[in-house]
Amino acid sequence: MSSRGRKILVTSALPYANGPIHLGHLVEYIQTDIWVRFQKMRGAQCWYVCADDTHGTPIMLKAQQEGITPEALIERIGREHRADFADFGIGFDSYYSTHSEENRELAGDIYLKLKERGYIEARKITQLYDPVREMFLPDRFIKGECPKCGAKDQYGDSCECCGATYSPTELKNPVSAVSGSTPVERETEHFFFRLSAFTGFLKEWVHRKGHLQPEVAHKVDEWLESGLREWDITRDAPYFGFEIPDAPGKYFYVWLDAPIGYMASFKHLCRRKGLDFDAWWGEGSDAELYHFIGKDIIYFHALFWPAMLHGAGYRTPTAVYAHGFLTVNGEKMSKSRGTFIKARTYLEHLDPQYLRYYFAAKLGSGVDDIDLSFEDFTQRVNADLVGKVVNIASRTSSFIRKRFANKLADELPDEDLYRRFLGAAEEIAALYESREFGKAMREIMALADAANQFIDEHKPWVIAKDPAREGELQRICTQGLNLFRLLVAYLKPVLPKLAADSEALLGIGPESWPDAETRPLLGCKINDFKPLMQRVDPDKIAAMVEASRESLAPAPSEKPQGAQAAEPVAGEIDFADFARVDLRIARIVGAEHVEGADKLLRLTLDLGGETRTVFAGIRSAYDPERLVGRLTVMVANLKPRKMRFGLSEGMVLAAGPGGGELFLLSPDEGAEPGMRVK
Ligand code: MSP
Ligand code: ZN
Repeated sequence: MSSRGRKILVTSALPYANGPIHLGHLVEYIQTDIWVRFQKMRGAQCWYVCADDTHGTPIMLKAQQEGITPEALIERIGREHRADFADFGIGFDSYYSTHSEENRELAGDIYLKLKERGYIEARKITQLYDPVREMFLPDRFIKGECPKCGAKDQYGDSCECCGATYSPTELKNPVSAVSGSTPVERETEHFFFRLSAFTGFLKEWVHRKGHLQPEVAHKVDEWLESGLREWDITRDAPYFGFEIPDAPGKYFYVWLDAPIGYMASFKHLCRRKGLDFDAWWGEGSDAELYHFIGKDIIYFHALFWPAMLHGAGYRTPTAVYAHGFLTVNGEKMSKSRGTFIKARTYLEHLDPQYLRYYFAAKLGSGVDDIDLSFEDFTQRVNADLVGKVVNIASRTSSFIRKRFANKLADELPDEDLYRRFLGAAEEIAALYESREFGKAMREIMALADAANQFIDEHKPWVIAKDPAREGELQRICTQGLNLFRLLVAYLKPVLPKLAADSEALLGIGPESWPDAETRPLLGCKINDFKPLMQRVDPDKIAAMVEASRESLAPAPSEKPQGAQAAEPVAGEIDFADFARVDLRIARIVGAEHVEGADKLLRLTLDLGGETRTVFAGIRSAYDPERLVGRLTVMVANLKPRKMRFGLSEGMVLAAGPGGGELFLLSPDEGAEPGMRVK
């Protein structure tokens, strides 16, 4: 089952060009890269393409905030992304940008074909509009009170407190997060993609063999059953994106041209390599096409994307492979805990090969989340890579160098063992092919154990003392190095640098996948051993976490500024009005996350003789552990409110627009729980 003759095009999701690559992203790029390197080693004609996803409102606003053009912003971020990926050994054949001529043409072409075939429909809609910035507001740039439960500070699409979903026009007292002004309703004409017209096609596509993982197909079935809605693919100016060909002032929504960016990146590669684009993307193409994605973007890749391609007369994917999310030490990555680690910060402290191996060891073919536990990481890398694999080479090559002028013996003392190693090639290959990398790593480490056992049994360090056993010593070390060579070949998709360094040590060319024809290295000269990999230094991990920790006073967020400055002061009240509010000093004696609420912390407050439970929307800015023990100020006579998670008996006071920028009040020293604030 070699891959020779297969034509395989592989993509990873296109990272947004408004922030740095972090370890969560790397799950995907490392997973895909391993699979691609494996296919290439097996002789397939395999291409790996990706790009930065450069369009949309957040990128436009971030550029404005920095006082630069969006083009300058995406250029800079693109450079950073490329450097991060290169340093992690991600071997893209093409890393492009969605803001490219190829993409503009392809997006326009696909849109026009869909329109011709009746899949695009125009409709007037009413949207919230920011009269100060003169722009329509995406849902997440509008905040207000929940129309159902009245909770404050909710986003334009759903309420964190009661779970209600609604349209932004239903929010009470809406505020634009861009300018702080009150948005107004405005009518505009948008184009919709008639996704529902593809219901029949998709119902079949989803279930045809292997297009989706079973658990993903199941989820998509639920969406199909509940009915597909038309998809709004339009955004009004000002917007950073592609103008719709026949509609000046209207732009394609970023998610329309993003997946087309896969095609554009490949088209760019075709120009450079002289490949025939249509042979890969045309209907009826015999090439295979795989998209690796995170589980959060399944809807786009399993519904919109196949429908768009089919509707516009292109081939559809061979499969879409979703993976789970990364947690660190069992929890969501957190800036305050120092576990939101940027690729660059990792590289400043640790060897990228560790992470490639660790992710490989944890990855399977499913969509389960994967956890990076630093203890497990250290233990596994040290035990497997340094203790088992590299150790074989260091134990044996030193004798070959010192005693035999780097020359290997002319025969193997245990050919059966060598053949056993070769015999594992197809089984390990099948595990790589089916993305069962964790299982593949276990197979390889079992072989490494067998190699070490061989060395332990033959004790070259003992034989070396007996001049009469020179030949035996050389043969044993030669056996060890030949086994090492096969292990490294099996690990090569995961550890291309270790493989290259080992090939240099053994004096051999780039290895392809071992098979029955792979002859042992005998009678040839190798090169001097250089350390191949260091043990993980736990101090380096601690330093990396420290460097990633953002202090409790949150860094200036990336949200647009000016919201609070623009919030007008409320109408005048009498002292009596104020006096009705009973503000008290409270000590936070408990703080924890609330299952199912991304924004909330459950606080237990000591009021000096009485404790209260309060749900506070400060999770984005505060690490619960760090709150416990401190004093703050609460509204003690607020009518208790029933929430989805329990009764909230009051409210703590904080300032700031939200996100990472929330600032709890604290009293000066000397204040005691229960004291009234007046
Ligand atoms: N721009 C879109 C994708 C467009 S594809 C046509 C996007 N970008 S992203 O930067 O947010 O994410 C890029 C990929 O990284 C996605 O597949 C996403 O699921 C994955 N991950 C981002 N954070 C992740 C974790 N914490 N863990 C695992 N994967 C994560 O979505
Ligand atoms: Zn609500």
